Amino acid sequence: MSHERASWGSKLGLILASAGSAVGLGNLWRFPYVAGQNGGGSFLLFYLICTFTIGITLVFAEAALGVKTKSDPAGAFGKIHPRLKFIGVLGVLTSAVIVPYYSVVGGWIVAYIVKSFSVSEIQNFESHFAEFSADPVEPVAYFAIYLLTTAAVVYMGIEKGIEKYCKIIMPGLFVLLLVLMVRVLTLDNAWQGVKFFFTPDFSKVTAATMLNAMGQVFFSVSVGMGIYITYASYVKNDDVSVGKTMGQVIFLDTFVSLLTGLTIFPAVFAFGMQMNAGPALTFITLPKIFAAIPFGTFFGLVFFVILFGAALTSSISLMEVVTTFLCDQAKMTRKKAVAAYTALCLVTGTLVSLSFGKLSGFKIGGKILFDQFDFLASNILMPVGGFLTAVAIGWVLGADKLTVSQNRCVQKSFEFCLKWICPAGVLAIMLNALGMI
Ligand code: PFF
Repeated sequence: MSHERASWGSKLGLILASAGSAVGLGNLWRFPYVAGQNGGGSFLLFYLICTFTIGITLVFAEAALGVKTKSDPAGAFGKIHPRLKFIGVLGVLTSAVIVPYYSVVGGWIVAYIVKSFSVSEIQNFESHFAEFSADPVEPVAYFAIYLLTTAAVVYMGIEKGIEKYCKIIMPGLFVLLLVLMVRVLTLDNAWQGVKFFFTPDFSKVTAATMLNAMGQVFFSVSVGMGIYITYASYVKNDDVSVGKTMGQVIFLDTFVSLLTGLTIFPAVFAFGMQMNAGPALTFITLPKIFAAIPFGTFFGLVFFVILFGAALTSSISLMEVVTTFLCDQAKMTRKKAVAAYTALCLVTGTLVSLSFGKLSGFKIGGKILFDQFDFLASNILMPVGGFLTAVAIGWVLGADKLTVSQNRCVQKSFEFCLKWICPAGVLAIMLNALGMI
């Protein structure tokens, strides 16, 4: 490599940034609404199975490849075989699809924060949410603020921006989630929500349930698009144990989703709300919870500030993929790369935001633009990326060329899962969803 590569200040930097990428709107916003639409308990079961087979294996594989090659995803796959470079490029494309709609949701969070300074507005936020998200100007402006904040952190560079920021945000998130969960669980009817979340109803399981659970795993652990290749490529020494560090990341991510489920579902039952409210679910349940607790407005503000932080660490990681790609492959400066990509996102994100209002009539396959972007990224592009990653690393490079753990049993299980379970599992679920098997 001709130019000096940046690096993490410490190993902790890598763990926190990876956890920061994994823990985000996927856990706190997407998980409850997708689980709610897919039957709760049965969804959770598939979700957990997928996480601890396909998800964890692919995260290990990506991170180990990053440590080994010290390249962006395209460069890393290119080192396995020049013809495989496109897998990395596919990941960059996936990022490009996610950032705009992710930032639209990020904008909703900014709106909540701003409105919580006015008591009358915040009390109405939940009941007027549909109206708010359909507005042609307000959510677009908030989206732009969120996007530009993301861009500013990426612009500052790997250590000064991302690492410092992630160290502050994560602990606060856990504490507040725990406080909220305890409060909700003590509301009347709350246990019905717990039951819904933990009792699988197999009569409701369809091919779509499995595809959605798998899509959620990819989205939530940020795998199948080279995030961990990128982050692990910034490791200075090769002595990191990929298994240990990334194992912690997956554990954390799953834990936050479970905590969120245990907060949102009981609240839905306690307040008699709709389980299948879709993308608005978190934004109508959380304000209700806050209204029911003492100093709720204050806690609500703090929580949404933290949610903003958690979302930001994820969108930063997404933008970082594109930036690293443009810097390494097109030899652009970081500043130019960030500026060009942000401009593109401003345009696409505006269209996505408008799909809740003015453009709501514009549907592809029965889905508005927002849902299309989400479906394409989570249920198609990331699983395809994961499948190709498993084949490229497992078969072309050889799973045994990467060390994820000194523990023989862990290492062997990793190799087996990467070569067999990941490609077969992803393929089976996708073909099943297409009605082909
Ligand atoms: N995992 C993030 C979340 O749960 O919000 C979203 C995400 C980040 C997806 C980075 C993909 C990605 F590459």
